[in-house]
Amino acid sequence: MKMKLVLAALAAVVLAAPAQAGPREDILQGYATAAKAADPGFKGFDAARGKALYEQQNTASADAPSCSTCHTASPLKAGKTRAGKAIDPMAVSATPDRFTDPAKVEKWFGRNCNTVLGRDCTALEKGDFITYLSSL
Ligand code: HEC
Repeated sequence: MKMKLVLAALAAVVLAAPAQAGPREDILQGYATAAKAADPGFKGFDAARGKALYEQQNTASADAPSCSTCHTASPLKAGKTRAGKAIDPMAVSATPDRFTDPAKVEKWFGRNCNTVLGRDCTALEKGDFITYLSSL
């Protein structure tokens, strides 16, 4: 009887563990693998670097010099496209389903990094960006 309880408790722990992982963690794990392949010295993503990327002013596009141009200076607030259409806040705490659909994440990194930076973002930049917006 006692053994059964112990086993039930163990099963509960084992079953609960995967609940902490999720689509956002899977996406970050994929970028971590790619970042490590690009640089064996990769030591993990960094929210401060992600914040710098978010705020950085660039020269590739005159009307979209920064991620914050559309996503606004505060990721906790709603942004706006150049055409004036509302964009939900980028911070995960404000928009919980942010960065949970890999196809959507890749589509918009592709589009927006090329507009703002004039090039693709690296796996390191993508991971830093998501880490920053998950930390707010
Ligand atoms: C010209 C306006 C504009 C700029 C500038 C911009 N974005 Fe976006 N971004 C959008 C729009 C529109 C969406 C899609 C709507 C949404 O997700 O709410 C979006 C969505 C995203 C998403 C998908 C989020 C998710 O939930 O999966 C990522 C990632 C992203 N942007 C990254 C960036 C990065 C990085 C920069 C700066 C290098 C940037 N964006 C600059 C307009 C912009």
